[in-house]
Amino acid sequence: PVSFSARASTRRQTAASRSTMSVTAGFKVAVLGAAGGIGQPLSMLMKMNPLVSELALYDIANTPGVAADLGHLNTPSKVTGYVGDDELEAALTGCALVIIPAGVPRKPGMTRDDLFAINAGIVKTLCEGVAKYCPDAIVNIISNPVNSTVPIAAEVFKAAGTFDPAKVMGVTTLDVVRSDAFVAELKGLDMKDVDVPVIGGHAGITILPLLSQTTPSVEFSDEEVEALTVRIQNAGTEVVEAKAGAGSATLSMAYAAARMGESCLRGLNGEADIYECSFVASSVTDLPYFSTKCKLGPNGVEEVMGMGEITEYEAGWLEKLKPELTGSIEKGIKFAAGE
Ligand code: NAD
Ligand code: LMR
Repeated sequence: PVSFSARASTRRQTAASRSTMSVTAGFKVAVLGAAGGIGQPLSMLMKMNPLVSELALYDIANTPGVAADLGHLNTPSKVTGYVGDDELEAALTGCALVIIPAGVPRKPGMTRDDLFAINAGIVKTLCEGVAKYCPDAIVNIISNPVNSTVPIAAEVFKAAGTFDPAKVMGVTTLDVVRSDAFVAELKGLDMKDVDVPVIGGHAGITILPLLSQTTPSVEFSDEEVEALTVRIQNAGTEVVEAKAGAGSATLSMAYAAARMGESCLRGLNGEADIYECSFVASSVTDLPYFSTKCKLGPNGVEEVMGMGEITEYEAGWLEKLKPELTGSIEKGIKFAAGE
């Protein structure tokens, strides 16, 4: 089986050390929205992950076919398909990790916030299921707008008395993957060596790549910093426009979510020094949720890292993003309260 290196941020591993990664536990993982554009390739990548013992595929339609298809991969995990509300309990029971890409994607001309009307309710309902059937699971939320769906999930868990801020994570890994790729491409560096932390949220100007903290250390001109920052902020839209009505990023998202999922499982498995950027409950700024690098461990987020030293340019973006991100967070909280 292929293991993602889950080459999270500051950690550097050699191929040799990766190949000796020992699997001490097998985890049940559910993908909610498993028959979708992200759900299918993500489920395939999770089926290839040696840390997964059971993969539960849940959707409102088509999961039996996807499960039958993936069930023929000769990797050790068992795959099961579940359809509709009545089968949510069976899909979720016993899960250590629940990954949620359920919901509608953007079409050209839409913002992620335009998806709120449909996706907020989907995430709320699915998280009510998580609270009931696997309250201890780590939840990775992909459904947009992430800046609002993460607060919705947290409010659902608070209402159910199951909220653990260490276990609710908005998936922003695609922003990191894109940043790493764009910087490596521009500077002619080896893709696997480059790491750019991305902070803030996951929509337009709330996405803030900290190019000054790129490793290995890279010199950028002011023009390069501006062009890269704006491209990373608009990268989702770049894909939406190229797909011209057929949806948004699915394959790169599946890749990024599989990396995030694997990092969570490696943390659960007791591996040291696992870091990923994620949109989580945070006291790094005055906003209640914020994405920075997080240290992952046996209980989920072990430590929300700070943002480190940022440049004046980055500080300017940080001030600009705060009102929009605050608004999106508040919108999610109000929705969950039924307001
Ligand atoms: P898609 O339409 O191809 O798939 C969505 C799937 O969700 C479908 O199979 C649908 O049946 C399912 N679904 C709908 N309601 C459901 C429910 N109540 N329970 C279970 N499943 C349900 O869409 P996609 O391209 O896979 O995108 C999914 C979501 O991910 C969108 O909201 C998109 O904006 C978001 N997304 C987020 C990121 C990120 O970086 N966080 C990146 C790309 C896409
Ligand atoms: C992305 O960044 O690709 C996703 O959030 C999907 C989108 O709507 O852009």
